[in-house]
Amino acid sequence: MTFAPETDSAPVGRPGPTPGDLARGIGTPATGGARADGVGGVELVEVSAYYRTFRAVREISLRIRPRAVTALIGPSGCGKSTLLRVINRMHETIPGTRAEGAVRLDGIDIYDPRVSPVRVRRTIGMVFQKPNPFPAMSIRENVSAGLRLAGERSRSVLEGMVEDCLRRAALWDEVKDKLKQPGTSLSGGQQQRLCIARAIATEPEVILMDEPCSALDPRATLQIEELMADLKRRFTIIIVTHNMQQAARASDDTAFLTMGDDRAGYLVESGPTAQIFSNPTRQLTEDYVSGRFG
Ligand SMILES: Nc1ncnc2c1ncn2[C@@H]1O[C@H](COP(=O)(O)OP(=O)(O)OP(=O)(O)O)[C@@H](O)[C@H]1O
Ligand SMILES: [Mg+2]
Repeated sequence: MTFAPETDSAPVGRPGPTPGDLARGIGTPATGGARADGVGGVELVEVSAYYRTFRAVREISLRIRPRAVTALIGPSGCGKSTLLRVINRMHETIPGTRAEGAVRLDGIDIYDPRVSPVRVRRTIGMVFQKPNPFPAMSIRENVSAGLRLAGERSRSVLEGMVEDCLRRAALWDEVKDKLKQPGTSLSGGQQQRLCIARAIATEPEVILMDEPCSALDPRATLQIEELMADLKRRFTIIIVTHNMQQAARASDDTAFLTMGDDRAGYLVESGPTAQIFSNPTRQLTEDYVSGRFG
């Protein structure tokens, strides 16, 4: 494969990005177009992550199926958030950190020096534990910010996109009459759906969610879970959760991490969620999912 020089300016109007786009740094904002099946598969190969000399994640190898929800579960401090940040190259934004191993998106190593980290973060979006709409921006601007940054100027394209993304995030009906109000004026559950709308606006292939429901009430939690079930038809979703019922309800596959005596997180086992919860191979997994430790 040949790689062209990096650029963050993105053409608009095509269907979703391809692996070649990522490598060339020419991603594509959302247009609602159909995509080839199988896009969005993530493969971790012996991934380790460090904070200075401390190894927080140890040699994790895992295949994440495209267009499915994968839950990452495990006790506090075992490296789940760190691993998520390695998957979209946010780990390296923390001073003194480094990662080893390979992370492949559709077969392309996102740590290849020719790949743009900015493009990676746009292709592998993230939703955080605490809803974090851009504070100075309206609801509309929160959703359109990424597209405007990518160079889209057409008002009608932007407005169409905002509506499309808010609909796909199951928020449109609640906000359509107040798009100019600040994103921060919404309820916590609405803000989290706004952040999901913002994340899908740049048409990522993968959405990482780090405990996205931990600040939400049961009803808002259920809305996000229903939303995930819908979004996985287009996106690969990786969710960190401490809620075992949520993992069992909302995910197709589950990966269980724990930490060793050196406090480094490692993968105990992974597989279809039904199997991990009802018939795990390892005693450690059984103990964790049944609530005996963690
Ligand atoms: N910015 C940082 N600097 C130094 N060490 C860190 C940093 N962030 C995390 N760590 C350490 O890395 C390890 C893994 O942390 P991480 O936040 O990834 O765990 P986690 O599984 O997400 O935990 P939780 O379930 O509590 O969110 C912990 O030992 C933590 O103290
Ligand atoms: Mg965490």
